[in-house]
Amino acid sequence: MFDPVRVARDFPIFSRGDLTYLDSAATSQKPSSVIRAVEDYYSCCNSNVHRGIYRISEEATELYEKSRENISHFIGSTDPTGTVFVRNTTEAINLLSYTLGRKLAPGDEILLSVMEHHSNMVPWQLLRERGVVIRYADIDSDGKLDLEDLKSKISRKTRIVSLTHASNVLGTINPVSEISRTAHEASALFILDAAQSVPHMPVDVRSIDCDFMAFSGHKMLGPAGIGVLYGKQDLLSDLPPFMGGGDMIREVRLDGATWNTLPYRFEAGTPNIEGAIGLSAAVDYLRNLGMEDVRYHEKDLMSYVMKRAEEIQDLIYYGPRDPEIHGGVFSFNLGDIPAFDLESELKGVRRPESSHELHPHDISSFLDQSGIAVRAGHHCAMPLMTRLGVQATSRASFYIYNSRKDADKLFIALENAKKAFAR
Ligand SMILES: Cc1ncc(COP(=O)(O)O)c(C=O)c1O
Repeated sequence: MFDPVRVARDFPIFSRGDLTYLDSAATSQKPSSVIRAVEDYYSCCNSNVHRGIYRISEEATELYEKSRENISHFIGSTDPTGTVFVRNTTEAINLLSYTLGRKLAPGDEILLSVMEHHSNMVPWQLLRERGVVIRYADIDSDGKLDLEDLKSKISRKTRIVSLTHASNVLGTINPVSEISRTAHEASALFILDAAQSVPHMPVDVRSIDCDFMAFSGHKMLGPAGIGVLYGKQDLLSDLPPFMGGGDMIREVRLDGATWNTLPYRFEAGTPNIEGAIGLSAAVDYLRNLGMEDVRYHEKDLMSYVMKRAEEIQDLIYYGPRDPEIHGGVFSFNLGDIPAFDLESELKGVRRPESSHELHPHDISSFLDQSGIAVRAGHHCAMPLMTRLGVQATSRASFYIYNSRKDADKLFIALENAKKAFAR
């Protein structure tokens, strides 16, 4: 039986006693085992990898490479050379847009969706200067991806379909295996932004059959500054380097250089060794809990959250009502927040007062007074805010250490916020 209260005991931060942490979609908390793994590395064999011919450097190299193998197995990959360490999801997608982008021609199309995080949107938009066309699949009124719209936008010109597995705003879990098949039928590459899925559910790159996948360590109990780009071996081998420098070369001459083998070709400079080791410890922790159970827990919690949400008048929440396709993210507004009107804002025209207009920042500050940490704003998804017709939302995001009690605290505090802000 999954017990989030017992899980929370493994996280030293909760011993503060005054924290209801509902912002794990931004970054997760870290269990003792991860903190210890990083500390042990610093205490026992801190040194540079792939370079020293002395013992602690060999030990550090072994820890670093074993971490790669462990993380690679965790996502169902049989080939650790396809697991490239990067800083985060953002860097992984920039690596792809830079390297794949050099192979694109004017008129080639990239298909995204309107629910993408800026980091799976802006790197592709940068390719517009090469004449590449960016298209966007829409969502339906329930916050689900409009599959008909997506399919209608795939054509012979589509070279890349890049999509989030789970939306960081709507919580929507997309049917990525089906979309991968559709992309491949059109001979397009399928790229998965798994920043909000790898931490929360079983993800198997082989069964999804994605060509590339990106995720961040800090959202899955690991340290910040470490993330992964997974890629199929043949496709990664075919890409030009992203950053030049040490470790990514085989040989350097004054008139040029040749490139190292995978994955080192994409790991220029000293890598985040302690980050990789910490992420491997995070993967051990999650594997020990069982990813099926992690997903089951979040589904159960989200059913409860949605039921509680229905009881609060004027609370609008976004994303699918079906917990089967809704991750642990709960975005909402309390009252009637008008859509952002940039023109009026710039002219200094005040928006009309509404009897129950509550800005997400006010909600977030109010909740903070009760020790509840939620995120407020556009969540790096401004086009999605526009599509939803709102300026911003509040977002409570749940993870393995959150229980129904945390949800209760949230809803009690929201009722109090309504009373406190009532005019
Ligand atoms: C869906 C999604 N993609 C990408 C990112 C970017 O992750 P990072 O900031 O770790 O690069 C986030 C971060 O919130 C996200 O939620």
